[in-house]
Amino acid sequence: MNTVILVGTSNAQGNTRRFADELANKQGADVIDISDFDIFFYDYEHRNRHDDFIRIIEDILDYELIIFASPVYWYAMSAQMKVFFDRLSDLLTVRKDLGRRFKDKHYAVLSTGAQPLAPECFIEPFKLTMDYFDMQFRGHFYAHYSTLETESNNHFLMLRQVEQAANSLFVQQPSTASSIS
Ligand SMILES: Cc1cc2nc3c(=O)[nH]c(=O)nc-3n(C[C@H](O)[C@H](O)[C@H](O)COP(=O)(O)O)c2cc1C
Repeated sequence: MNTVILVGTSNAQGNTRRFADELANKQGADVIDISDFDIFFYDYEHRNRHDDFIRIIEDILDYELIIFASPVYWYAMSAQMKVFFDRLSDLLTVRKDLGRRFKDKHYAVLSTGAQPLAPECFIEPFKLTMDYFDMQFRGHFYAHYSTLETESNNHFLMLRQVEQAANSLFVQQPSTASSIS
């Protein structure tokens, strides 16, 4: 399944990007950092319709699996990701043609945070928003970067999450169809 990882973080070389890169390298996925583009806040008058938002949407529509990668910042997605999510409203109004094309695509979420577990509320905006677009949820994978652990231990724990995400998202399920011998 061709895959793109859309990263939204305040740290271009930080924990979330490392997590995304490891999974991308393992699976041959492409990575897009939202911060490399000019995406303005949602505007009711759509005066920003010529910024880079539609360009990213057109790019990610080429993929079957879209993975959103965000750190946990104050129990929620990063501001970069939130601006992107707010702009998805454009796909329900001025660019419905593009919005419809997300139907039946798959999506997953990668996140990183300092706490042992992601807060329960973190995943909800992803799921509830993607429901609008009739996309199929494939999982949430969280890498815990503890301030009490060494860097190499955190890296090791992150690699375990990469393994789990790779197995869950990309390993072919055995066929359930029974064969007649
Ligand atoms: C503004 C800010 C808010 C944060 N809030 C949380 C939080 O609510 N829960 C948590 O587990 N970690 C929190 N953290 C820690 C980050 O989620 C963690 O260090 C993450 O791996 C950083 O990813 P990054 O390198 O991509 O920015 C916060 C960090 C920052 C900078």
